[in-house]
Amino acid sequence: MIVLGLFGSPRRGGNTDLLLEEMLKGAEEGGAQIERIIISELKFSPCIECHGCDETGECVLDDDMEKVYPKLLEADWIILASPIFFYGVTAWTKALIDRVQSLWVRKYRLKLTPGDQGRRRKGFFISVGATRGAKLFDGARLTVKYFFDALGLDFEGQLLFKGVEGKGDIRTHPTALREAFEVGKASVNRTLKERG
Ligand SMILES: Cc1cc2nc3c(=O)[nH]c(=O)nc-3n(C[C@H](O)[C@H](O)[C@H](O)COP(=O)(O)O)c2cc1C
Repeated sequence: MIVLGLFGSPRRGGNTDLLLEEMLKGAEEGGAQIERIIISELKFSPCIECHGCDETGECVLDDDMEKVYPKLLEADWIILASPIFFYGVTAWTKALIDRVQSLWVRKYRLKLTPGDQGRRRKGFFISVGATRGAKLFDGARLTVKYFFDALGLDFEGQLLFKGVEGKGDIRTHPTALREAFEVGKASVNRTLKERG
């Protein structure tokens, strides 16, 4: 079972990185094989809306996303971690999400089934923001919901923390990192059990 972590913050070692690392550690302890994609280290363009994928479901751009697509299609769980930037996900994360348009085309225009033999694939969202407003995560949640949907992932859960701003401040939260570890481990255990 493969758990893929998508690191969506440009601040390496920041709050969402720490949470995602803990969740991956938990997943690894639960028995999963872990993969990481650091989005800000990829060299890639956002979607240019050329419609080059309309007939094939294959993106025609030639950049680092080429090695990301197979990983997005192969993983059993994808954990996307992005802080809130202007009430959405980071630009890095959004650029990757927009490039999944070719997979949206496969699913909804070409009606191609993913060929995953009925395997239920799952998506999980991690986020933090500095402020505490009631709607802090609403915009990002919707974006992530439709990203997971394009990939055929069930939106399995989320870990969201408000009032977290400085690099590494999440460490001072009484439960956050432990929660991330535990949810990672429990998710893998549950999935392995479901599969018998
Ligand atoms: C460009 C930018 C935009 C931001 N926009 C918001 C925002 O709209 N709401 C908010 O609560 N925090 C906002 N923040 C604060 C970050 O979400 C916060 O510092 C977070 O802890 C960063 O997570 P990281 O360490 O994983 O990068 C913003 C930060 C930056 C740099």
